[in-house]
Amino acid sequence: MIEFFINDQPVQADDNQTVMQAAKANGFFIPYFCWHPQLSVPGNCRICMVEVEADGGGWLDIACNMPVTKGMRVLTDSEKVRARRKETLQFITLNHPVDCGICDKAGECTLQDYHYEYNGAPSVSRDAKVHATKHYPLSERIVLDNERCILCTRCVRFTREVSKSAALGVQSRGDHSLIRPVEDGSFENDAYSDNVIDICPVGALLSRPFLHKARVWYLEPTASVCPGCERGCSINIWHRKDAWRLKALDQRQNARIDRVTPLENPAVNGPWICNKGRDLAQVFERARAEQAMHKGRPVELQAAIDGARAMIGAAKRPVALVSSWGSNEELATFHAALGQRFACYVKTDWLPAPSEVLEDELLIKPDKNPNGTAARALFPTLPADARSAFPPDTDLVLVWGEGFSFAQLPPDAKIVYLNSYLQPENGHADVFLPISVQTERSGHYTNFQGVINAFEPCFAKKAGVVDAEALFAALAAPPGKAK
Ligand code: SF4
Ligand code: SF4
Ligand code: FES
Repeated sequence: MIEFFINDQPVQADDNQTVMQAAKANGFFIPYFCWHPQLSVPGNCRICMVEVEADGGGWLDIACNMPVTKGMRVLTDSEKVRARRKETLQFITLNHPVDCGICDKAGECTLQDYHYEYNGAPSVSRDAKVHATKHYPLSERIVLDNERCILCTRCVRFTREVSKSAALGVQSRGDHSLIRPVEDGSFENDAYSDNVIDICPVGALLSRPFLHKARVWYLEPTASVCPGCERGCSINIWHRKDAWRLKALDQRQNARIDRVTPLENPAVNGPWICNKGRDLAQVFERARAEQAMHKGRPVELQAAIDGARAMIGAAKRPVALVSSWGSNEELATFHAALGQRFACYVKTDWLPAPSEVLEDELLIKPDKNPNGTAARALFPTLPADARSAFPPDTDLVLVWGEGFSFAQLPPDAKIVYLNSYLQPENGHADVFLPISVQTERSGHYTNFQGVINAFEPCFAKKAGVVDAEALFAALAAPPGKAK
């Protein structure tokens, strides 16, 4: 460790740190565009300029690429520094369209923030701005606005250093420089491509599904866990704030997942997630099952619970297929309340989709279920030939969650089925019980490394559905006691 000084205050730093790293670690703010803690340092934007004091005068230099030295004295917000940042911002916005009014990044754009902090003045240039491509289709998922691009090259470095697709580059020179994808289409196949949307410091890289859907200040994030594979990445699920609830127009927007972004978690996913994690709305916003049924006929939820409890009580050889999407809490409750009553097996709710990346060296794991690790710690795995799990005299099967074909069930066994979505099997069960989804309740998953990660509810539970945890306690209660 060495000691140096930031704004006259002594600071301890590793001698291999840069001024930027040491400043951040000690709570001093220095602006940056091109620097990113997980990427190489190009030093191209110059906004991180700081003043180094020295005998006989000092100098200005960029903090992101300047190593700390013993006794060094750095000023992060001196008059000279502010003046240089103002000039830098004049230069960066020389050809920038400043169309914040129609830009999805407005509200979380560092160019906007730094402009107000360090510049605030209109452009001093009398020349017409250089125009570039406004809506370049970078991929099916991302649109690029070259006029807003400040050529920080974060997106280029991300594909070279993190996702390893090397799918983006800079074409041409000077004010004609353009970010472009390589021509073999590899950006389209980059399973992590959407991270460039987050790391772009301006509104140049935009998500097509989110494009012009919502102003970010109408939204708030809820901490959650991606159930897309056994990595269980930490995510933020963005949805409309209560204060901005729509009272007329399309009220479905009040309970809609607007976007999903990574929630930085060094123990699990760092600052990244894969594209599958961004598409969770396609999982959770499928048509929901909200009606309890008895052999396909709608019944009151309580009547269905009572019916299921009676069937479980009367069964002589019951078998349960446990969901690998159940939370730790639900699994523990099932184990305590019903684990002795059933022969239990963990089933695989989701298999990899045909075109899906099975596994890679960054995040993606082959088991496409979030909580198989916790489930398998309590119960054995369902054999590959599921029929071998059912003794000939099996008279009841409780199936929890998706992904199991009823054709594999013993033909004479009664079926109690717990599921959240509208599916044909629901009507074939003797008792069907609709259960809540992850975005409607809190809980934890245990990932493949044993890391436990929490999720919180973003939306109210639908009327007519029950939380599985409460349901298991009710199914185990003596007759007349269950609610
Ligand atoms: S598109 Fe965004 S991330 Fe890429 S170089 Fe331009 S400003 Fe930087
Ligand atoms: S790596 Fe797995 S857990 Fe992480 S975002 Fe992708 S699918 Fe979700
Ligand atoms: S952040 Fe240092 S030069 Fe860009």
